[in-house]
Amino acid sequence: MLEDVVAGLSQNQKTLPSKYFYDERGSKLFDDICELDEYYVTRTESALMKAEVSDITSVIGPNALVVEYGSGSSLKTRLLLRNLIQPAGYVPIDISGDYLSQVGHSLQAEFPQIEVMPVVADFTKPFEIPSTSEPSARRVIYFPGSTIGNFQREEAKNLLAGMADNAGDDGGVLIGVDLDKNRDVLRAAYNDSKGVTAEFNLNVLNRINSELGGEFDLDKFQHKAVFNETRSCIEMHLISTQRQTVKVCEYSFEFAEGETVLTEYSHKYTISAFGQMANEVGLDVKNVWTDENDMFAVMYLERA
Ligand code: AVI
Repeated sequence: MLEDVVAGLSQNQKTLPSKYFYDERGSKLFDDICELDEYYVTRTESALMKAEVSDITSVIGPNALVVEYGSGSSLKTRLLLRNLIQPAGYVPIDISGDYLSQVGHSLQAEFPQIEVMPVVADFTKPFEIPSTSEPSARRVIYFPGSTIGNFQREEAKNLLAGMADNAGDDGGVLIGVDLDKNRDVLRAAYNDSKGVTAEFNLNVLNRINSELGGEFDLDKFQHKAVFNETRSCIEMHLISTQRQTVKVCEYSFEFAEGETVLTEYSHKYTISAFGQMANEVGLDVKNVWTDENDMFAVMYLERA
Protein backbone atom coordinates (compact mmCIF):
# COMPACT_ATOMS: atom_id res chain seq x y z
CA MET A 1 0.00 0.00 0.00
CA LEU A 2 2.85 2.43 0.86
CA GLU A 3 4.41 1.80 -2.54
CA ASP A 4 1.10 2.50 -4.32
CA VAL A 5 0.42 5.62 -2.25
CA VAL A 6 3.90 7.05 -2.85
CA ALA A 7 3.75 6.26 -6.58
CA GLY A 8 0.25 7.76 -6.90
CA LEU A 9 0.98 10.95 -4.97
CA SER A 10 4.22 11.48 -6.92
CA GLN A 11 2.45 11.86 -10.27
CA ASN A 12 1.55 15.14 -11.91
CA GLN A 13 -2.15 14.34 -11.51
CA LYS A 14 -1.98 12.80 -8.05
CA THR A 15 -3.91 9.53 -7.77
CA LEU A 16 -4.77 6.89 -5.17
CA PRO A 17 -6.02 3.42 -6.20
CA SER A 18 -9.73 3.00 -5.47
CA LYS A 19 -9.16 -0.50 -4.04
CA TYR A 20 -7.93 1.21 -0.86
CA PHE A 21 -11.42 2.57 -0.14
CA TYR A 22 -12.50 -0.78 1.21
CA ASP A 23 -11.24 -1.18 4.76
CA GLU A 24 -13.90 -2.03 7.36
CA ARG A 25 -15.20 1.56 7.60
CA GLY A 26 -15.02 2.06 3.83
CA SER A 27 -16.99 -1.14 3.18
CA LYS A 28 -19.63 -0.01 5.67
CA LEU A 29 -19.80 3.42 3.99
CA PHE A 30 -20.17 1.73 0.60
CA ASP A 31 -23.12 -0.29 1.97
CA ASP A 32 -24.63 3.04 3.09
CA ILE A 33 -24.09 4.50 -0.40
CA CYS A 34 -26.03 1.56 -1.86
CA GLU A 35 -29.06 2.63 0.22
CA LEU A 36 -29.01 6.29 -0.86
CA ASP A 37 -31.89 7.71 -2.92
CA GLU A 38 -29.48 9.26 -5.41
CA TYR A 39 -27.41 6.07 -5.86
CA TYR A 40 -29.66 4.22 -8.31
CA VAL A 41 -27.04 1.55 -9.18
CA THR A 42 -27.63 -1.17 -6.58
CA ARG A 43 -31.40 -1.06 -6.42
CA THR A 44 -31.71 -0.90 -10.23
CA GLU A 45 -29.48 -3.93 -10.74
CA SER A 46 -31.20 -5.90 -7.96
CA ALA A 47 -34.66 -5.15 -9.38
CA LEU A 48 -33.46 -6.09 -12.86
CA MET A 49 -32.03 -9.39 -11.63
CA LYS A 50 -35.26 -10.10 -9.78
CA ALA A 51 -37.37 -9.41 -12.86
CA GLU A 52 -35.18 -11.39 -15.27
CA VAL A 53 -33.66 -14.14 -13.16
CA SER A 54 -35.65 -16.99 -14.69
CA ASP A 55 -34.71 -15.88 -18.20
CA ILE A 56 -31.08 -15.45 -17.12
CA THR A 57 -30.88 -18.88 -15.52
CA SER A 58 -32.50 -20.54 -18.53
CA VAL A 59 -29.85 -18.93 -20.78
CA ILE A 60 -27.13 -20.20 -18.42
CA GLY A 61 -28.67 -23.67 -18.51
CA PRO A 62 -28.41 -26.61 -16.09
CA ASN A 63 -25.38 -27.88 -14.24
CA ALA A 64 -23.27 -24.70 -14.36
CA LEU A 65 -20.36 -23.93 -12.08
CA VAL A 66 -20.73 -20.25 -11.09
CA VAL A 67 -17.50 -18.38 -10.36
CA GLU A 68 -18.18 -15.02 -8.79
CA TYR A 69 -15.55 -12.28 -8.94
CA GLY A 70 -16.17 -10.91 -5.44
CA SER A 71 -17.29 -12.24 -2.10
CA GLY A 72 -20.83 -13.26 -2.99
CA SER A 73 -22.34 -11.23 -0.17
CA SER A 74 -24.99 -9.53 -2.30
CA LEU A 75 -28.68 -10.30 -2.60
CA LYS A 76 -28.13 -10.78 -6.34
CA THR A 77 -25.92 -13.81 -5.67
CA ARG A 78 -28.60 -15.44 -3.51
CA LEU A 79 -31.19 -14.73 -6.16
CA LEU A 80 -29.02 -16.36 -8.81
CA LEU A 81 -28.18 -19.41 -6.67
CA ARG A 82 -31.82 -19.88 -5.73
CA ASN A 83 -32.89 -19.91 -9.38
CA LEU A 84 -30.08 -21.77 -11.18
CA ILE A 85 -31.07 -25.11 -12.66
CA GLN A 86 -29.19 -27.89 -10.81
CA PRO A 87 -26.02 -25.81 -10.31
CA ALA A 88 -22.78 -27.83 -10.16
CA GLY A 89 -21.14 -25.51 -7.66
CA TYR A 90 -20.40 -21.96 -6.59
CA VAL A 91 -16.92 -20.42 -6.28
CA PRO A 92 -16.69 -16.92 -4.75
CA ILE A 93 -13.26 -15.28 -5.28
CA ASP A 94 -12.10 -12.57 -2.88
CA ILE A 95 -8.84 -11.19 -1.57
CA SER A 96 -10.13 -10.95 2.00
CA GLY A 97 -9.93 -14.49 3.41
CA ASP A 98 -11.79 -13.83 6.68
CA TYR A 99 -14.73 -12.16 5.04
CA LEU A 100 -14.86 -14.78 2.28
CA SER A 101 -14.93 -17.71 4.68
CA GLN A 102 -17.72 -16.02 6.67
CA VAL A 103 -19.81 -15.50 3.52
CA GLY A 104 -18.91 -18.98 2.23
CA HIS A 105 -20.18 -20.63 5.42
CA SER A 106 -23.43 -18.75 5.46
CA LEU A 107 -24.09 -19.47 1.75
CA GLN A 108 -23.27 -23.16 2.26
CA ALA A 109 -25.78 -23.28 5.15
CA GLU A 110 -28.42 -21.53 3.06
CA PHE A 111 -27.80 -23.69 -0.04
CA PRO A 112 -26.80 -27.14 1.28
CA GLN A 113 -27.45 -28.71 -2.16
CA ILE A 114 -24.79 -26.50 -3.82
CA GLU A 115 -21.07 -27.19 -3.41
CA VAL A 116 -19.62 -23.85 -2.21
CA MET A 117 -15.84 -23.57 -2.71
CA PRO A 118 -14.41 -20.13 -1.82
CA VAL A 119 -11.03 -19.16 -3.27
CA VAL A 120 -8.85 -16.49 -1.68
CA ALA A 121 -7.28 -14.66 -4.62
CA ASP A 122 -6.89 -11.33 -6.40
CA PHE A 123 -9.15 -11.87 -9.39
CA THR A 124 -7.20 -9.37 -11.51
CA LYS A 125 -4.40 -11.96 -11.57
CA PRO A 126 -4.49 -15.62 -12.74
CA PHE A 127 -5.95 -18.08 -10.17
CA GLU A 128 -6.97 -21.76 -10.07
CA ILE A 129 -10.66 -22.66 -10.19
CA PRO A 130 -11.36 -25.77 -8.05
CA SER A 131 -13.13 -28.67 -9.71
CA THR A 132 -16.49 -29.87 -8.49
CA SER A 133 -17.06 -33.42 -7.24
CA GLU A 134 -19.59 -33.92 -10.06
CA PRO A 135 -18.57 -32.68 -13.53
CA SER A 136 -20.18 -29.39 -14.57
CA ALA A 137 -21.64 -28.53 -17.97
CA ARG A 138 -19.99 -25.10 -18.11
CA ARG A 139 -18.37 -22.36 -16.09
CA VAL A 140 -20.14 -19.04 -15.75
CA ILE A 141 -18.20 -16.06 -14.46
CA TYR A 142 -20.46 -13.71 -12.50
CA PHE A 143 -19.32 -10.10 -11.99
CA PRO A 144 -22.22 -8.00 -10.67
CA GLY A 145 -22.32 -4.44 -9.34
CA SER A 146 -20.80 -2.68 -12.39
CA THR A 147 -17.41 -2.95 -10.67
CA ILE A 148 -15.97 -3.39 -14.18
CA GLY A 149 -16.61 0.38 -14.49
CA ASN A 150 -13.99 1.10 -11.82
CA PHE A 151 -11.24 -0.25 -14.08
CA GLN A 152 -9.62 1.85 -16.77
CA ARG A 153 -10.24 0.65 -20.33
CA GLU A 154 -7.09 -1.42 -20.76
CA GLU A 155 -7.46 -2.95 -17.27
CA ALA A 156 -11.13 -3.71 -17.97
CA LYS A 157 -10.16 -5.45 -21.22
CA ASN A 158 -7.51 -7.52 -19.42
CA LEU A 159 -10.04 -8.50 -16.79
CA LEU A 160 -12.58 -9.51 -19.47
CA ALA A 161 -9.88 -11.49 -21.28
CA GLY A 162 -9.11 -13.36 -18.03
CA MET A 163 -12.83 -14.06 -17.59
CA ALA A 164 -13.02 -15.44 -21.15
CA ASP A 165 -10.11 -17.79 -20.35
CA ASN A 166 -11.66 -18.89 -17.07
CA ALA A 167 -15.07 -19.45 -18.70
CA GLY A 168 -13.55 -21.59 -21.47
CA ASP A 169 -15.17 -22.49 -24.80
CA ASP A 170 -18.51 -23.69 -23.44
CA GLY A 171 -18.82 -21.15 -20.65
CA GLY A 172 -20.05 -17.58 -20.32
CA VAL A 173 -19.69 -14.30 -18.47
CA LEU A 174 -22.66 -12.71 -16.69
CA ILE A 175 -21.77 -9.10 -15.95
CA GLY A 176 -23.47 -5.98 -14.55
CA VAL A 177 -22.77 -2.79 -16.52
CA ASP A 178 -23.85 0.70 -15.52
CA LEU A 179 -25.13 2.55 -18.58
CA ASP A 180 -24.42 6.05 -19.85
CA LYS A 181 -27.21 8.38 -18.76
CA ASN A 182 -28.35 11.88 -17.89
CA ARG A 183 -25.47 13.85 -16.41
CA ASP A 184 -27.51 15.32 -13.54
CA VAL A 185 -28.53 11.81 -12.45
CA LEU A 186 -24.89 10.70 -12.58
CA ARG A 187 -23.51 13.73 -10.77
CA ALA A 188 -26.14 13.41 -8.02
CA ALA A 189 -25.34 9.71 -7.54
CA TYR A 190 -21.71 10.54 -6.75
CA ASN A 191 -22.30 13.84 -4.90
CA ASP A 192 -25.14 12.73 -2.63
CA SER A 193 -26.93 15.24 -0.43
CA LYS A 194 -26.14 13.40 2.83
CA GLY A 195 -22.41 13.52 2.14
CA VAL A 196 -21.92 9.75 2.46
CA THR A 197 -19.91 9.53 -0.78
CA ALA A 198 -17.76 12.42 0.47
CA GLU A 199 -17.05 10.48 3.68
CA PHE A 200 -16.31 7.34 1.65
CA ASN A 201 -13.85 9.26 -0.52
CA LEU A 202 -12.14 11.05 2.40
CA ASN A 203 -11.86 7.74 4.27
CA VAL A 204 -8.95 6.74 2.03
CA LEU A 205 -6.93 9.54 3.70
CA ASN A 206 -7.99 8.22 7.12
CA ARG A 207 -6.72 4.83 6.10
CA ILE A 208 -3.35 6.24 5.01
CA ASN A 209 -3.13 8.03 8.37
CA SER A 210 -3.94 4.98 10.45
CA GLU A 211 -2.17 2.28 8.43
CA LEU A 212 0.84 4.16 7.09
CA GLY A 213 1.31 6.87 9.70
CA GLY A 214 0.18 9.58 7.25
CA GLU A 215 -0.51 13.11 8.44
CA PHE A 216 -3.46 14.13 6.27
CA ASP A 217 -5.77 16.73 7.87
CA LEU A 218 -9.17 15.70 6.53
CA ASP A 219 -10.54 19.19 7.12
CA LYS A 220 -8.20 20.47 4.43
CA PHE A 221 -9.61 18.25 1.67
CA GLN A 222 -13.00 18.20 -0.04
CA HIS A 223 -14.81 15.60 -2.10
CA LYS A 224 -15.77 16.33 -5.71
CA ALA A 225 -17.19 14.03 -8.39
CA VAL A 226 -17.27 15.22 -12.01
CA PHE A 227 -18.28 13.60 -15.28
CA ASN A 228 -15.43 13.27 -17.79
CA GLU A 229 -17.11 13.40 -21.23
CA THR A 230 -14.03 12.23 -23.11
CA ARG A 231 -13.66 9.04 -21.11
CA SER A 232 -17.38 8.69 -20.34
CA CYS A 233 -16.79 8.24 -16.65
CA ILE A 234 -17.38 9.78 -13.27
CA GLU A 235 -14.11 10.83 -11.69
CA MET A 236 -13.91 11.21 -7.93
CA HIS A 237 -11.35 13.67 -6.61
CA LEU A 238 -10.16 14.99 -3.26
CA ILE A 239 -9.41 18.71 -3.54
CA SER A 240 -6.81 20.36 -1.36
CA THR A 241 -8.51 23.47 0.03
CA GLN A 242 -5.18 25.18 0.68
CA ARG A 243 -1.50 25.02 -0.10
CA GLN A 244 -0.05 22.37 2.19
CA THR A 245 2.65 19.77 2.71
CA VAL A 246 1.59 16.31 3.90
CA LYS A 247 3.95 13.69 5.30
CA VAL A 248 3.46 9.95 4.84
CA CYS A 249 6.26 8.03 6.61
CA GLU A 250 9.48 9.59 5.40
CA TYR A 251 7.88 11.07 2.25
CA SER A 252 6.54 14.63 1.86
CA PHE A 253 3.96 15.68 -0.71
CA GLU A 254 3.25 19.27 -1.75
CA PHE A 255 -0.31 20.27 -2.58
CA ALA A 256 -1.22 23.57 -4.26
CA GLU A 257 -4.53 25.19 -3.30
CA GLY A 258 -7.20 23.54 -5.49
CA GLU A 259 -4.95 20.66 -6.55
CA THR A 260 -6.74 17.31 -6.66
CA VAL A 261 -6.06 13.64 -5.98
CA LEU A 262 -7.96 11.41 -8.43
CA THR A 263 -9.33 8.52 -6.37
CA GLU A 264 -11.79 6.66 -8.61
CA TYR A 265 -13.09 6.21 -12.14
CA SER A 266 -16.59 4.88 -12.65
CA HIS A 267 -17.10 4.30 -16.37
CA LYS A 268 -20.56 4.46 -17.86
CA TYR A 269 -20.97 2.47 -21.07
CA THR A 270 -23.46 2.27 -23.88
CA ILE A 271 -24.45 -1.32 -24.66
CA SER A 272 -22.66 -1.10 -27.99
CA ALA A 273 -19.45 0.39 -26.53
CA PHE A 274 -19.31 -2.37 -23.93
CA GLY A 275 -20.04 -4.99 -26.61
CA GLN A 276 -17.24 -3.56 -28.74
CA MET A 277 -14.78 -3.78 -25.82
CA ALA A 278 -15.86 -7.40 -25.16
CA ASN A 279 -15.40 -8.22 -28.88
CA GLU A 280 -11.85 -6.90 -28.74
CA VAL A 281 -10.97 -9.67 -26.26
CA GLY A 282 -12.88 -12.41 -28.10
CA LEU A 283 -16.24 -12.28 -26.33
CA ASP A 284 -19.60 -11.94 -28.08
CA VAL A 285 -22.70 -10.44 -26.47
CA LYS A 286 -25.36 -13.19 -26.41
CA ASN A 287 -28.02 -11.55 -24.26
CA VAL A 288 -28.71 -8.14 -22.73
CA TRP A 289 -31.28 -7.41 -20.04
CA THR A 290 -32.03 -3.78 -19.10
CA ASP A 291 -34.44 -2.04 -16.76
CA GLU A 292 -37.33 -0.02 -18.21
CA ASN A 293 -35.37 3.25 -17.98
CA ASP A 294 -32.19 1.82 -19.54
CA MET A 295 -30.15 2.74 -16.49
CA PHE A 296 -28.34 -0.57 -16.07
CA ALA A 297 -27.61 -3.67 -18.13
CA VAL A 298 -26.90 -7.27 -17.22
CA MET A 299 -25.09 -8.90 -20.14
CA TYR A 300 -24.29 -12.50 -20.98
CA LEU A 301 -21.10 -12.92 -23.01
CA GLU A 302 -19.66 -16.03 -24.65
CA ARG A 303 -16.39 -16.77 -26.38
CA ALA A 304 -16.63 -15.81 -30.06
C1 AVI B 1 -18.14 -0.37 -6.56
N1 AVI B 1 -18.49 0.57 -7.63
C2 AVI B 1 -19.27 -0.07 -8.67
C3 AVI B 1 -19.05 1.85 -7.18
C4 AVI B 1 -19.35 2.77 -8.39
O1 AVI B 1 -20.48 3.22 -8.48
O2 AVI B 1 -18.47 2.98 -9.21
C5 AVI B 1 -18.14 2.57 -6.20
C6 AVI B 1 -18.65 3.91 -5.77
N2 AVI B 1 -17.97 5.01 -5.71
C7 AVI B 1 -18.73 6.00 -5.28
N3 AVI B 1 -19.94 5.57 -5.10
C8 AVI B 1 -19.93 4.23 -5.39
